[in-house]
Amino acid sequence: MISDDDIQKVREATDIVALIGERAPVRQRGRDFWCCCPLHNEKTPSLKMDPSTQLWHCFGCGAGGDAFGFVMQLDDLTFPEAVRKLADRAHIELSEDARQGGAPRSRRERLKAVCKETAEFYHLQLMRGKGPGPEAARTYLAGRGMGGNVPNDWQLGFAPGRGALVRHLSSKGFAPDEMIEANVAVSRNGKLNDRFYDRVMFPICDVAGECIAFGGRVMEKKEPKYLNSQETPIFHKSQTLYGLDHAKAAMAATGCAVVVEGYTDVIMLHEAGLRNVVATLGTALTQRHIRILSRHAQHRIVYLFDGDAAGQRAADRALQFIDDSMTPEAGRTKVELAAVTLPDDLDPADFVAKRGADELRALIDSAQPLLQYGIDRRIERHDLSRPEGRSAAMADALSVLAPIKDSLLAKDYAVQIAGRVRAREQDALDALAKLAPLRRYQDASEGDSPTQPDGQQEQAAQPRRRALSSSEVSRLRFERELLSLVARYPQLGLAHADALASTQWHDSVHEAVAQHILDALAAESVPAPADLVSAVSRAVPRAAGILTSGQMGKSTSPEELATFLTEELAIGDAEEAIAGLRARLADPRGLSQEEHDFIFQSVVGMQKDLSQRKLAHKPLIRE
Ligand code: UTP
Ligand code: MN
Repeated sequence: MISDDDIQKVREATDIVALIGERAPVRQRGRDFWCCCPLHNEKTPSLKMDPSTQLWHCFGCGAGGDAFGFVMQLDDLTFPEAVRKLADRAHIELSEDARQGGAPRSRRERLKAVCKETAEFYHLQLMRGKGPGPEAARTYLAGRGMGGNVPNDWQLGFAPGRGALVRHLSSKGFAPDEMIEANVAVSRNGKLNDRFYDRVMFPICDVAGECIAFGGRVMEKKEPKYLNSQETPIFHKSQTLYGLDHAKAAMAATGCAVVVEGYTDVIMLHEAGLRNVVATLGTALTQRHIRILSRHAQHRIVYLFDGDAAGQRAADRALQFIDDSMTPEAGRTKVELAAVTLPDDLDPADFVAKRGADELRALIDSAQPLLQYGIDRRIERHDLSRPEGRSAAMADALSVLAPIKDSLLAKDYAVQIAGRVRAREQDALDALAKLAPLRRYQDASEGDSPTQPDGQQEQAAQPRRRALSSSEVSRLRFERELLSLVARYPQLGLAHADALASTQWHDSVHEAVAQHILDALAAESVPAPADLVSAVSRAVPRAAGILTSGQMGKSTSPEELATFLTEELAIGDAEEAIAGLRARLADPRGLSQEEHDFIFQSVVGMQKDLSQRKLAHKPLIRE
C-alpha cells in the first residue's frame, strides 16, 4: 500500500501539462492547453488539459482523468504502478519502498514472479525432460514445424502435471495462494495440484515480454484443445495480445499490425518472416485491443480471419468496430481497420505452409477497409441472379452503413451498392436515409466487449450503440455537465448535495458517480478536483472520462451553471413523474376511485408547480 501522503506528494510534484507534453506537442488556447490525444491517432487536437484542476479530457475518445489516470491508460498500468512511475519521474522516494528495500513490491509482482518461474520450469521440462511425456512433446512440436529454435524463441514448454510444478514452486518459496491466484495451480478437496497436465505450454507475455499467463495444448485429439489461464489480477484477455512483445518492433517499423486467431499461427508467421503478427486469446477483438495496437502500428490493423465457420462468425462480429471516426468528416485519421478472409478453410499457419510467405503478404496487402469488407460479405450472402435476392442484398449491405449513415462516405458506398445490385441510386440513398440513426453511446469511453470463458461459444456482440432520442441525448449531456462541474468545483457539490442525491439519473453509471461524489464530499475537508476524480474513478472505472467531460461554463459563472443544471434535471424528473402518474390514470383497472382521485389531484398540483418552474427556468445564453 502506498500512503495517501505519498500519493499527494507525487500529485503535487506532477504538472499535467508538462506530463502530457512529454508525449505530444501542446498548444495553449485561452486558459486551457490542447494536444492530439496519444491514446488514439488523430491530426487535430481534441485532448484538453486544465492547469487549474490538473485534469484532462479527450473529446475524441472520451477518456479523461488526472495525472495518474493518464499514465494508467497510456501505459496500461495499475494505480500503484502509475504512482510509482510518476514518483520516479519526480525523483520522489515512496516511504513503502524505503521500508521494504529490494523485496518484491506488490502482489502483482509476486504473481508475475510465479508465472516467470513456471514458464522456466515448463521450458526446462520440454528441453531436458526425460520419459514419454517430454519426448512426445518434442516430437509433436517438431512434427508441426516448431522444432529448431522455435521452442527457445517462444519459451515453449511442457507441463508434466502430477504436482511437479507445485512442488517446484514451493521449493522456490511461493505460497499456495500465490500459485492459485496466478492460476497455475488449483485446490481440489483441499489438496493443491497443478492446473496444466500433459500439455505443450505457450507462455503468454505482456507487451514488455513478462509472462502473465499460459495456454496449454493437448497433443492428441482431446477436448478442450487449449486450456488457458483464467483472468487473474495480472491477466486480462480483453487487453492482451499473444506475441505483442515479439511483434511491436515490426509494427512500429511497418506501421501495420496483423491480427490472427491462434497461437500457432503467430509463431508460424513470425518464423516465416511476418513479424508484425499477434493473436487474440480465443476471444473477440475488443476496442481496447485496437487501442493498444494503434499505439504500435500507426497506419493499419489487418484482421486475418480463418476460412472456417468460426472465422466467419468472428468476421461478422468485427463489423461492430465501424463507427463515425472512419468518415472523412471526423477530420482525424484514425488507424485504418482492414480485414481479409483466408481461402479454402485454411488458417494462417496452413496457408503459409502451403503457399509461402509472399502469397500471404500479398493477401494481407489486398485486405479491404472494414466497411468495404462488411459490404462485400453481406452482398455475397444473397443470390444476385434473382430480384428478391438483389433487394435483400441491398438492404443487408446498407445496414452495414447505419452507424455512419449521415456521412458522405456512406452515400458513396450506397451508390456503389446500388450499382452492384442493379438498383437505382436514388432508391439506395433513400433507403440509407431511412435507416435507424444509430448513435454511438457517448459515454462509452471503455468499449470492451466482455471476455468469454474458455472454450465457450461467444454470443453475438453486445449492442455497442443505442438509438437515443435527441431529448435523451441532451438529458445525458446535462447529467454529465453537472457531474463534471462538481468535479471542477467540489464546493458546489456540497451546495447541491440534495440534487446529487435526488436526481433520477438516466444512466446507472452517473448514479454511481453521484453517489461516490457524495461519499468523497463527506470527508473532513473538501477534496481538490484531482483528488475527487481520483477517488471516484477508483470506485467507478468509467467515472474519470465523465467527470472531465464538461464543456459548459465558459460564459457563465459556476454557481449560475450549477443552478441551471440542477433545475434542468429536476424539471425533467418532474415531467417523468407526471407522465408516470398519467399512465396509471390512463389504465384505471386496479385503481379504486379514491386512489384515482388522489393521483389525479397530485397530477394537477404537480403540473401547476411544473409550469411555474418552467417559466422561471431561463435557458442559458448559448455558449
Ligand atoms: P484454433 O483451433 O484455430 O487453434 O483456435 P490454433 O491456434 O490454430 O491451434 P492448432 O493449430 O490447432 O494447434 C484459435 C485460438 O482459439 C483459442 C486459442 O487461443 C487458439 O489459439 N482456443 C481454441 C481456445 O482457447 N480453446 C480451445 O479449445 C480452442
Ligand atoms: Mn487455427
